[in-house]
Amino acid sequence: MTLLDDKTSHTVKISPSLDEIEAWLREEDPKKLTKLWHAADQTRKRYVGDDVHLRGLIEISNYCCRQCAYCGLRAGNTRLERYRLTEEEIMGCVQQAVRFGYGTVVLQSGEDYGIEREWLANIVRRIKTETPLAVTLSLGERPDEDLIAWREAGADRYLLRFETSDPELYRLIHPAGPHRREGNRIEILKFLRSLGYEIGSGVMVGIPGQTYQSLANDIDTFRALDLDMVGVGPYIGHPDTPLGARVEIRVVPRENQVPNTELMTYKVVALTRLVCPQANIPSTTALATLNRALGRELGLQRGANVVMPNLTPPQYRVKYEIYPAKVCIDETADQCHMCMRARIMRIGRSVGSGQGGRKRSEPMANNQGKTYT
Ligand code: 5AD
Ligand code: FES
Repeated sequence: MTLLDDKTSHTVKISPSLDEIEAWLREEDPKKLTKLWHAADQTRKRYVGDDVHLRGLIEISNYCCRQCAYCGLRAGNTRLERYRLTEEEIMGCVQQAVRFGYGTVVLQSGEDYGIEREWLANIVRRIKTETPLAVTLSLGERPDEDLIAWREAGADRYLLRFETSDPELYRLIHPAGPHRREGNRIEILKFLRSLGYEIGSGVMVGIPGQTYQSLANDIDTFRALDLDMVGVGPYIGHPDTPLGARVEIRVVPRENQVPNTELMTYKVVALTRLVCPQANIPSTTALATLNRALGRELGLQRGANVVMPNLTPPQYRVKYEIYPAKVCIDETADQCHMCMRARIMRIGRSVGSGQGGRKRSEPMANNQGKTYT
């Protein structure tokens, strides 16, 4: 299968090895990178098609009991005014998702034990009985009993980024939490899958202390976990956090430190598509924050097939400040909806309908080791 029309030299492996992934992350030649974008885009088209799925994001609470060194929602950030949506407010956002024709709502929050197991299970049950929507949860490292109850209530998917596969860096940026399997997000993801959830994970690109080798290993871990969803975005420093205030966490030689740039994020999106060809991959808000004009579009053209328009009421949205200068802060849900649709149409893609769950079809049988040449 010839997907790249270049007879000269550089080929793009469909399923690159760990070393090849690292070499791509270090690649700076624009001509070669064009081939990577093309291979990712072709793989996206072959495996998941031209549809871009819209997931309506509802940021249900910004309370958090954890102290992640990079995140503006960390418990230690006393400058942040906290909120938690009521059931009625959440259901109002859900109704908007239905009106806009979305297939999924994503309920996201800090790790907030004010969100009680039964309270949330009831909301999930309501969404599943009153609407045709898929429900994705992104509520942190909750105890097994909560994850079980929410799955029984009908939740379809769970997102939990492992943030870095480097155990030392992970420990440095994630002080201990209340949960017994705490710290081992990979184990939690496996448990979620055993419950029947579709599982999503991901990392930040360019965290201080992140090396090329560890980022390559992150991407290899997406493949090993056979993730259904993978979200990656650039690390953006938040001044009210230790990492954002430049407290030195770990020193790595300059040449090994991954930059938190737009270009590096595209490389990670593209490589993620090559290692997880069937996965749902969003073009993230953090990426759009680095390039407001075209970040979403370029993400979609370099491997991504999902966007997450924000449904959170604007008065709360400003308070969900994981990192500063987030895009879509002042927009209403209607504005975000129209804007996303326009962006999708402008690049010649279609808006997906239905729940848009993980596809398991194999357009190319046994593609291991094949190359786009
Ligand atoms: N910059 C970019 N992304 C961040 N996240 C948290 N803090 C930041 C930051 N400062 C990401 C994490 C988390 C997701 C919800 O947001 O990867 O899992
Ligand atoms: Fe929200 Fe453009 S996607 S305003």
